[in-house]
Amino acid sequence: MFVSPQERLVTNDADRKRDVATAFGDATDGYRDGAVLKEGNDLETLVDWSADATRALDVATGAGHVAGAVADRGVSRVVASDLAPEMVATATSEYDGLEGTVVDAERLPFPSDRFDAVTCRFAAHHFPDPEAFLAEVERVLAPGGVFAFEDLAVPADPELASYVNRIERLRDPGHVETSSPAQWRDWFEAAGLTVDAVRETSRRLEVDAWLDRMDVPDDRRREIRSLLADAPVALEAAFDFRYADDGERLESYRTGVVLFRARA
Ligand SMILES: C[S@@+](CC[C@H](N)C(=O)[O-])C[C@H]1O[C@@H](n2cnc3c(N)ncnc32)[C@H](O)[C@@H]1O
Repeated sequence: MFVSPQERLVTNDADRKRDVATAFGDATDGYRDGAVLKEGNDLETLVDWSADATRALDVATGAGHVAGAVADRGVSRVVASDLAPEMVATATSEYDGLEGTVVDAERLPFPSDRFDAVTCRFAAHHFPDPEAFLAEVERVLAPGGVFAFEDLAVPADPELASYVNRIERLRDPGHVETSSPAQWRDWFEAAGLTVDAVRETSRRLEVDAWLDRMDVPDDRRREIRSLLADAPVALEAAFDFRYADDGERLESYRTGVVLFRARA
């Protein structure tokens, strides 16, 4: 049976990953231009953590904002990698000096100890096997190399966590699972990555713009709006829901975010 190069890059959950690549491939403009990813203190923190590297890999680069900022900071070789070929093309045309490659985060096609920094921002909730991803990060990092990681984070309470994940999956069928900071720390340690800094923070999302970025169809928008309207009080408080003047329509909320710096 013929197996395309793209298929060889993908480990398990091949259909899901193909759908994710297609969905993101169709959404490059929003990810390139949206201020929510293009700038921010979190981006600066990841770049600060990686700036001493000479060879860096950005996993799930999207439109390349982290890879571009790391290269701008003077890291001489920066590889911008993503499952979606259109994202890799967007990143390499948007930012100078990047090497682009189509790659599954759970199967990195690089020799061991190749990089002295790996970055990954706002993507791991799409990975079906986060432990396989972290094992690969640990493998491609040289001893002492830095892993600068950021992702959405859910509250520790499992009921709130599953409510948030239900909403996220309706918005983006490629969403697998947002995990808690404690879960990530356990996985890092199990992979042999030593965590030396953690920042728990949050990010305000404008609900309509957030739905527009993934071009969510009307029926799913209605379902999401209804789940947000019925959200547990504890979630409303934890995520600081803000309503329009009519007091009914949710305009924005602060979603949990966590940053980790870890060393191989
Ligand atoms: C929100 S975007 C990333 C944003 C980007 N890191 C930034 O900071 O601007 C999520 C990206 O993850 C990529 N992605 C999803 N699953 C992936 C996988 N298994 N391997 C590599 N990339 C993946 C998507 O194609 C998409 O470009």
